[in-house]
Amino acid sequence: MRRLALTAALLLVGSALPAFAQDAPLPGQRVFRTQCGACHTIEQGGRNGVGPNLHGIVGRPMGSIEGFRYSANVRAEAEKHTVWTEETLRIYIANPKSILPTGIMPYAGLRNPQQLDDLVAYLKTQG
Ligand code: HEC
Repeated sequence: MRRLALTAALLLVGSALPAFAQDAPLPGQRVFRTQCGACHTIEQGGRNGVGPNLHGIVGRPMGSIEGFRYSANVRAEAEKHTVWTEETLRIYIANPKSILPTGIMPYAGLRNPQQLDDLVAYLKTQG
């Protein structure tokens, strides 16, 4: 009987742990969904919406999605071959006008530092 209970307990632990480790979404995924998902997709080859697809955005040249109509501000950066880094993404997401003053992303900025950390960590996994 004891043995049976122990086995049952081990089975429970065994089935709960991997589910937690593998299936739990990163906290930044939720931030992305609520803050960015209305305008952006992130999967490879995802469609453009109000904003361009963001697959592999960390390390990607600015304004590089074919067929998306970027602002003149972004196009000028694209001509200079400016690349999105973790640092510039943080600045942009926290306050889009700070680095693209005449950009057209209609987003006020993500001011919560924890959410910003989580979101950037998530973006790094998508590409
Ligand atoms: C209401 C729509 C909207 C929301 C919400 C939004 N964006 Fe955007 N985003 C845009 C548009 C439009 C552009 C194009 C900006 C331009 O051309 O100036 C853009 C551009 C970008 C770019 C530049 C892409 C490139 O190819 O150079 C990044 C990075 C970006 N957004 C990240 C985000 C993130 C991260 C969030 C969530 C925190 C977010 N955006 C929320 C509409 C949105």
